[in-house]
Amino acid sequence: MNSQKDFVAAADVIRKSTSQKPTVGLVLGSGLGSLADTLLDRVVIPYESIPGWPTSTVFGHQGNLVIGRLAGQTVAAQQGRAHFYEGYTMREITFPIRIMKELGIGTVFLTNAAGGINPAYKVGDVMLIEDHINFPGMVGANPLMGPNDESLGERFVGLAQAYDRELRNLAIEVAREHAIPLHSGVYCALSGPSFETPAEIRMLRTLGADTVGMSTAHEVLVARHAGMRVMACSGVTNVAIDTVDSDFETNHEEVLEAGKVIVPRLTTILQGVLKRFPT
Ligand code: HPA
Repeated sequence: MNSQKDFVAAADVIRKSTSQKPTVGLVLGSGLGSLADTLLDRVVIPYESIPGWPTSTVFGHQGNLVIGRLAGQTVAAQQGRAHFYEGYTMREITFPIRIMKELGIGTVFLTNAAGGINPAYKVGDVMLIEDHINFPGMVGANPLMGPNDESLGERFVGLAQAYDRELRNLAIEVAREHAIPLHSGVYCALSGPSFETPAEIRMLRTLGADTVGMSTAHEVLVARHAGMRVMACSGVTNVAIDTVDSDFETNHEEVLEAGKVIVPRLTTILQGVLKRFPT
């Protein structure tokens, strides 16, 4: 199991690659990695060169940590992430969040590609996550299980304010100013890799989920455990299919394609939030 020693070793490799000191972390999901290409003075560190960092085998996840400046802040952006369905443990795939903390990052902005469950959501829409339903976490696949290292965080983590209200309000303000439609809603995390059946989608809708995906929630748990502030957005890459009479099938290509519309919207929101960032 990863320990503080492993976090320091990984962080040291990153610190040797750049003198920049990031204070904000970004995690860029499927098809959203190009947001990191807009960073100024960027240094690109392949995940393979960082000890313990999980690499993704999924197309659309570039596999680099990019450090540079965005809207006046120094940020460390993960271009792609590893997933539980690739065979990693929850602890392994949340290692990068621990490293961000070790680097001195106090705020993380997480993004994901997600299916739209709320009937009002369209492909290309962005949803600010205000809360989540974490199915894997609720039934035992929780990265905080096992012995708790008190130096990293508390045993029992409260999640009533997991998604920082001040940051959410800033994002809503920025979106309004730029006339970007921005939903606020509940993200549902599942383990994947199969997409949901129509019956599962109807069930999730009944339970109050607005988007569904295969990431993010476990990262939020670790970030909150580590005392970091969290903001997160879903990019709606496909409309979840809720009837067996549909002729469509969700596929990874449409998920990646929709990223092209979502990235500029996310970039604008993020830049606006970073500019007004509470210091
Ligand atoms: N379901 C689960 N994960 C996803 C989806 C979806 O429809 N779209 C993108 N990631």
